[in-house]
Amino acid sequence: MYLKFYIFLIGCLLLQLTNLQASIFEPTFRETKLKSLKSVPVPGPSDLALSHLIKNKKAAIQLGKALFWDTRVGSGNKTSCASCHFHAGVDNRVKNQLQPGLLSGDTTFQLGGINYQLSRKNFPFITKDDDKGAEDDINEVVGSQGVFNAIFEDAYRENGKEECKYEADAIFHGLDEDGKHINTRRAEQRHTPSTINAVFNFRNFWDGRATNMFNGVDPFGRKNAESYIWKLKNGKLEKVVMDLQTSALASQASGPPLSGFEMSCKERQFHHIAKKLLYGAILKDQKIAKTDSVLGEFALKKPTYQALIQEAFRPEWWDTTEAVPYAGAPRGSMDLKDAPNLAKNMNEAGITMMEANFTMFFGLAIQMYESTLISDDSPFDRFAEGDQNALTDAQKRGLAVFQGQGQCIKCHTGAEFTSASFSSVNQQRLINFEVTPDKHFIADNGFFNIGVRPMTDDPGIGGVDPFGKPMSETRMYMNGWWDLLGNNFDPSKYPKPSDIKKTSIEGAFKVPSLRNVELTGPYFHNGGKSTLLQVIELYDAGGDFIEENSEGLGIVPVNLSAEQEQDLIHFLLSLTDDRVRYKRAPFDHPSLCFTNGHQGATNEVTENGRTGNATDELRCLPAVGAEGTRVALKPFLGLSPFQR
Ligand code: HEC
Ligand code: HEC
Repeated sequence: MYLKFYIFLIGCLLLQLTNLQASIFEPTFRETKLKSLKSVPVPGPSDLALSHLIKNKKAAIQLGKALFWDTRVGSGNKTSCASCHFHAGVDNRVKNQLQPGLLSGDTTFQLGGINYQLSRKNFPFITKDDDKGAEDDINEVVGSQGVFNAIFEDAYRENGKEECKYEADAIFHGLDEDGKHINTRRAEQRHTPSTINAVFNFRNFWDGRATNMFNGVDPFGRKNAESYIWKLKNGKLEKVVMDLQTSALASQASGPPLSGFEMSCKERQFHHIAKKLLYGAILKDQKIAKTDSVLGEFALKKPTYQALIQEAFRPEWWDTTEAVPYAGAPRGSMDLKDAPNLAKNMNEAGITMMEANFTMFFGLAIQMYESTLISDDSPFDRFAEGDQNALTDAQKRGLAVFQGQGQCIKCHTGAEFTSASFSSVNQQRLINFEVTPDKHFIADNGFFNIGVRPMTDDPGIGGVDPFGKPMSETRMYMNGWWDLLGNNFDPSKYPKPSDIKKTSIEGAFKVPSLRNVELTGPYFHNGGKSTLLQVIELYDAGGDFIEENSEGLGIVPVNLSAEQEQDLIHFLLSLTDDRVRYKRAPFDHPSLCFTNGHQGATNEVTENGRTGNATDELRCLPAVGAEGTRVALKPFLGLSPFQR
């Protein structure tokens, strides 16, 4: 009798304990209160950490804006960051944007060829017949065109010139009328996400490979064990390790300038870009509006990049005439499946300190600029601040669907409309995610598989970085590498690795913010949906590829009525900030010409002189000042968000 009682007591105690454990790491479906983005602190490194690096914040933002929009950053002088992030932070070009499915090994274009011009009839990429399953399925990705395939030769300080040698591209090419092989521009492997509000992401890229910790040389933070930059101590050059937290944007920005898909001839190094840019004017070939909110004072007289760096950064990072023995540290390539770039061009003599540290200046300055690209004044924000009239009745009904039957709020949480935000992830890195009361798994907070593609097409955060480390924090933790995750990752918050049985990692992608989503199509990591209705139909069905992702799938069918779908779309449109729509400050910008496919047809292109490369078509945007434009940005292909 007594024994029984004791067993009962011990049982209660155990239950208590497990409950205690559970309350820390329970399956979550956390409701968050409606909040305006204005109420969320802008994440970033501490003022103290920044004060060791940056001397003048205003100059750092100016430097970042100039670098972001300058087409001379790219090899060939026609590609800036903005070339792929010019339209509400994304890219709405429709020609020469396709990538055949390289991550799954597919090198053939189903849609005919690289210079294909997309139109509304191509979307969605998958159409289903209710009885027979997949009817039409295109595994191509709507990426973004970058540079031509070529090998770097040299860059010159005297005249800012850069030389690259033509190299035939096995995939990205067409034929001229005589059947000659002509290179076309290469297109990125995933669809371009928005730079607006990207500062709120804990990590960046669809697979999170731009880490929260910035090491000053590449996107991989502490996972690159050999990274270093140069610092003056008592007038002498010293190698120091940079380990700057909450800086995913700086990590991210250090990737594209050397990417063979985005901005660079092969084997180019960051100090080559420095040699080319530093001694000439910022935005040399572009115009700045007098009323530009950041660069206005330079409209008539542009400083050199060197002068702006001297203004922005503390002298211990650049102020010596002593030559640096190495160009820089070993670095990893942001291009998926590329090996680390260990020692190429590393012993070039006579690099200046400013050239050697250029990646650090570049990354931080762009982070400072992008941290100003915040759209926090949408009708939704005004509603959340208490203005009951800021939303229409349809939008209010849509909000109820968003929070209720649609279950959107489970992942598109908080004022950021994503659980991949700093405010959500910094508090909880791994999550025990409840899909239904009897299905839950452990995952990286903010990264889910919603069955957009079979997970064999693209592993998402299931991939590894160039140093062989998993992109997934769950996997890093299970392998005992949590100390490489930074931002005070606390292993005591999570179950023992041996107790983690069910995870969802393969085919999971970062939950994108839904702010300005009206303007940021096509949607998803493959760009396979052209309208918001098409996106919602995926959620109605519980995913396009359910069996191919079954165990890891984070959604279930929500079966909305046609009316609920329309209301939900009305609500999503309340997330557009008119300053983005009309390019008002801080979304104003210098003039920009970017490539827009090639002359010719899907496969037949014309050669540009005797370069072996196809002739570009160009699209140009005039310089816009703080007052913005009168022309409103339009949704992708001018489509109505409400149409199928
Ligand atoms: C050729 C087109 C192209 C160029 C040029 C380019 N990007 Fe991107 N950008 C992309 C694509 C595609 C992705 C997504 C890649 C991925 O996730 O694998 C991306 C992702 C990003 C992200 C992450 C956003 C998020 O939500 O994760 C940021 C920030 C960004 N780019 C900024 C920049 C900056 C800064 C530059 C210049 C240094 C730049 N981009 C140059 C195409 C481009
Ligand atoms: C389980 C988490 C989850 C839920 C629930 C969820 N989403 Fe998403 N959402 C994601 C992820 C992850 C992506 C990116 C997936 C990809 O590209 O593979 C995404 C992408 C999107 C996009 C595309 C944005 C872009 O820029 O490409 C839209 C729009 C969207 N979701 C709206 C919704 C709506 C509306 C609901 C509710 C009906 C919803 N989501 C429910 C996780 C979720």
